Amino acid sequence: MEVKPLNIDDYNEVIQLWKRAGLDHRPKGRDSKAAISQQIKMNPDLFLGAFENEKLIGVMIGSFDGRKGWINRLAVDPMYRGQGIAKHLIEVIELALRKRGARIICTLIEDWNKDSMHLFEKCRYIKHDSIIYFSKRESDEI
Ligand SMILES: CC(C)(COP(=O)(O)OP(=O)(O)OC[C@H]1O[C@@H](n2cnc3c(N)ncnc32)[C@H](O)[C@@H]1OP(=O)(O)O)[C@@H](O)C(=O)NCCC(=O)NCCS
Repeated sequence: MEVKPLNIDDYNEVIQLWKRAGLDHRPKGRDSKAAISQQIKMNPDLFLGAFENEKLIGVMIGSFDGRKGWINRLAVDPMYRGQGIAKHLIEVIELALRKRGARIICTLIEDWNKDSMHLFEKCRYIKHDSIIYFSKRESDEI
């Protein structure tokens, strides 16, 4: 397995992988081709894919807002789960985010997503039960 930065030519494969993985994404909002292209331009080292024999089997988008590093849209192909691919992607993005100056790295996980919680606990992330996420958005598609 090889981890390398993705570019906009990988966009369709990424969407297909998110679909296979059952990951909710926003094709008209922050996951549109234009939005992803913009994110890649800003952070070419933080849009990562895991490949097995040229096949995309894992994906993750990192971001750094100047205060915290974020792990977003992590997904591993159902056929390749339980082999440490997500764990490895997290290690690689942590390095890239620390290089940017991130000293806190975080992620948002929906309350039903126990698999993801297990994964991040295994990677030594701490769950904060006292924090409730609030957002203001232009529409549900963003
Ligand atoms: C969550 C997900 C990314 C895990 O990918 P993965 O490559 O199978 O995870 P790994 O093999 O790297 O697992 C690493 C650790 O996470 C934990 N873990 C991962 N999947 C788990 C599961 N289904 N049940 C329990 N623990 C799990 C395990 O502790 C594992 O460590 P171990 O094998 O040493 O016990 C994958 O299941 C997925 O794509 N899910 C759908 C999309 C999603 O929910 N993304 C996260 C959004 S926040």
